[in-house]
Order: sequence, then structure tokens, then C-alpha cells
Amino acid sequence: MPTALAVPPAIDDAVRIAALAHTADRLTIRWSDGRESPYPAIWLADNRPDRRDRPDGQRLFDAIDLPDGIVLRGVTLGADGAVEVDLAGFDTPARFETAWLRAHALDPTSRAERRRRPVLWDSSLALPTGDYTAVAGDDDARAKWLRQVHDHGFALLRGVPAEPGMVCKVVELFGFVRETNYGRLFDVVAVDKPQNLAFSALSLGNHTDNPYRDPVPQMQLLHCLEAASEGGESVVVDGFAAADRLRREAPDAFALLTRRAVPFRYVEAGKVDLRAKAPLIELDADGDVAAVRYNNRSIAPFDLDPDEVEAFYDAYRRFGRLLHDPNLTVGFRLAPGDLFIVDNRRVLHGRRGFSAGRRWLQGCYADKDGLTSTLFSLESSR
Ligand code: OGA
Ligand code: ZN
Repeated sequence: MPTALAVPPAIDDAVRIAALAHTADRLTIRWSDGRESPYPAIWLADNRPDRRDRPDGQRLFDAIDLPDGIVLRGVTLGADGAVEVDLAGFDTPARFETAWLRAHALDPTSRAERRRRPVLWDSSLALPTGDYTAVAGDDDARAKWLRQVHDHGFALLRGVPAEPGMVCKVVELFGFVRETNYGRLFDVVAVDKPQNLAFSALSLGNHTDNPYRDPVPQMQLLHCLEAASEGGESVVVDGFAAADRLRREAPDAFALLTRRAVPFRYVEAGKVDLRAKAPLIELDADGDVAAVRYNNRSIAPFDLDPDEVEAFYDAYRRFGRLLHDPNLTVGFRLAPGDLFIVDNRRVLHGRRGFSAGRRWLQGCYADKDGLTSTLFSLESSR
């Protein structure tokens, strides 16, 4: 599954082009801050502004139509700072804006700046919190809350009217509800014969939801309508921070969890049989952690080479202990009207068991693309 692209970093107006150089197959820009950025000829030809000249930014041409063996014949710096590139096989030179070239530069430093950089957190996290009335009524407050969700993979929202269905209204502030076999929304209440342990009064270890789906629902929201008078506290932990610690403390265990897929399954006899197989720690193409999955209730028997089973259990149990380490977890108690949201591919949630009094949460899922799209649109129109 692709990970969301980071927004190009803001361009520092003070950065200027200090020098231009070229060979037949690449342009090199030396910037006033000392950075040196190479641009291969075929990449420049494909990104000519006249190949992406629709107002919506969509491209009109396909790379398969480019001539073979593109040669860069010359480069000049215009008085307005734009770079003119003369490419063999094209009638007119291509004009590239300085800011565009800097924002899309291919040197390692520029590329590292565009990489996803989640803010890892531990038990010292000050609970990221928004106020429902502000978030629902004001674009700035909405952008700030969504930014917290985006950066931490977790946030609270207080003051949501304690009425059934409101959890979906919160999703509608940034995206779309992802309906599943549990419904558009689901009630988390203790019932007599629960199909799913979430619908009992038992404690739930820290977990990601629905690892037996492909794709897993990425955002999960839980809204408290009635709190138990005793117990039922919530716990969250940053799975990326735990994976980062595992990577540093036990690199072989980390590598094993990224390389072996684990089966997950959820069955309701005759009605539901959901199965997915995926690694407990998933990496993206850059080698950064893209997702974690951990759910002791729905993990199925490992399908591994027997000689690897013991090492795999060591790695799995070590990761599991980190995911429950009090130095990494954050606990809080939901009161009626409180809601929390997690990025279910990053942050695990759990709850303590409860006994006295009725407890009622409503939950639902949403995709993350709607959330990031709303966030980036709000931020770029500010
Ligand atoms: C869930 C869940 C936590 C709670 O429904 O997925 O983990 O606090 N519930 O009841
Ligand atoms: Zn859950």
C-alpha cells in the first residue's frame, strides 16, 4: 500500500541559484546555500512545464511518447531567475521556475527533506486535544486538530455531543466513513455472548483493529456516550516509536518481523470469514516503517519454516512487550462527549476491564486519504 507523499517543504525565498552547469545528460544547479542538485535530461524533458500545463496540474503527455536518448544542448539563467533548458528533439526551450526546481530537487538532502518524518512519542506525550465546537466551526481549528492527528497518529476531541451517531459526523469533518461488516458505526457495549471480545467487559491488550482486512481501515474513532463508573480506561501507544526502539535494540528481530508475513483471521460462523496475511512491521520503499499490526485476538497460527519459529516468537514477544511498556504508553479516561482517533496503521489502543455501571462507546472507521487531503487543502489555502 503506498504511503502518503509528504508536502514539498516550503521554499526559503533567500535561496538563489549560484551557478549552472550541464553535460549532455544532466543539468546541475549550485544553490546559494551550497547545495548541489543534479537534474537528468530525461527527467527535465518529462517535467517540462508545457507538459503539465493544465490549470488542475494534470499532465497531458505520457512518458512513452518522449524521444529516446534526450540530449541537453544548453542552459541559461533568465533575468527573472527562471532556468531555460534547451533539449534536443523539442522545438522550444523549457522554462523552469527556480522555486519549482528547488522543491523537486533530486540531491540526497532535498529528497530526505521530502521524506515522511513522523513525530515519535512516548509516555511523556501531552495529550493532543481539540474542541469539537471549534473544530466543526472554524477551518483554522480544524486544520490544527487534523495536523495533530497526522503528526502523532492520535488525538482527542472533547465536547462532542454525547448523542448516538455523532462519531460519523466527526468523520464527515474530514473525510468518509468506511463501512464494514460491523456496520457504518458500531456500538462498543458489554453484551452477554459477545461475537468479539471488544463487546465484553474484559480488558483489551494494546492492538490495532481489523488486521484481518486488506486494506486495514486506517483511521479509527471511538466516541464515549456513557463511561463505566469503575474501570474502562483507554491506553494508546505509538507503534512507530516501539518499532524504532526494536530496530535500535534488536535489529535482527526487527528485520525478521518486516520480512515474514503473519496470518490474521476473524470468523462469525456462516457469515463472516476475513483473512489477511501481512508483516507485523511493514516498511515503505525508503525502508521507513509504514505500518504496524498487532492483535493477539485475531492472529492466526504462524505459517513459517519450523527452524525460524523460535526466533520469530522471540522477535514477536519482544515487540509485544515494547508495545505494552509503561515508558511508551499513555493512559486516559474517556468521559461522555470525549472521542479519540487513531491512525490504525501506527497507533495501538487498548482498554482496562470494567465492572460497575454501563459503558457505551460508538466507533467507526475512515480512510486516511480523506483526512490528509482535507488537512493539506486547508493548510495550503491559509
Ligand atoms: C474496539 C476497542 C476499546 C474500548 O472497539 O476496537 O478496542 O475502550 N475498544 O472499548
Ligand atoms: Zn480496538
